[in-house]
Amino acid sequence: MRQILIAGNWKMNLTISEGKNLVKEIEKEIKNPKCEILVCPTFTSIFAIKSELKNSKIKIGGQDCREVDNGAHTGDISAELLKDAGAEYVILGHSERRTNHLEPSILIKNKAEKALRTGLKTIICIGETKDERLAGITEEVCAAQLKGSVPKEASADNTVIAYEPVWAIGTGLTPTLEEIESVHKFIRKTAAEFMGKDAADKIRILYGGSMNPANAKDILALENIDGGLIGGASLKIESFLSIINAV
Ligand code: PGA
Repeated sequence: MRQILIAGNWKMNLTISEGKNLVKEIEKEIKNPKCEILVCPTFTSIFAIKSELKNSKIKIGGQDCREVDNGAHTGDISAELLKDAGAEYVILGHSERRTNHLEPSILIKNKAEKALRTGLKTIICIGETKDERLAGITEEVCAAQLKGSVPKEASADNTVIAYEPVWAIGTGLTPTLEEIESVHKFIRKTAAEFMGKDAADKIRILYGGSMNPANAKDILALENIDGGLIGGASLKIESFLSIINAV
């Protein structure tokens, strides 16, 4: 049985006090969560949010890290420093990193190797653009990103895959339920080619892209969907809670 993971990707949002308030309220409402809950604040908030959550079931993650050790890299963040601040997870290869910072899959693989060596779990994102979907090459794009970004050290225990169609992120658009299930099934089948069937059956595959309180229940009920990576709807207490409750 794969445990559902509900992960909030706060992106470049929420001040320290807004973030603290959000996790405190979630914590108050969720007594015995039926899923793993993760929030990924901006770097400047990780330590403060973690300190707010002593003995909490809510886990903390970063949104990116470099593939190298600590050193002379102005403006960057390392896996070691994320871990030191309290992070257990790190999101890698989000489409906003692939696009805004021109990150290729090989770099994401190197980052994932470094994060895993440091003891962080990784959430590796993949997904097609609108043009790629219209061209009928969603599976080719996802397979190339998956094989290119997931390192050989990855296992079902230390790695989560997030399928995020780029055109669904922040747009209010989502693929149909059938389309989501079909891509997730394909990702699991492709993962089996390089990690083995056993690991691929156990690895969690999240859906991300305009998941909200109205669609979460149906998406999370699909066979090969093991949770959500949630942007906009994770920034408000009511909507994030409602998605957690949909589990
Ligand atoms: P969204 O973002 O939920 O706002 O579409 C998801 C993501 O980018 O991880």
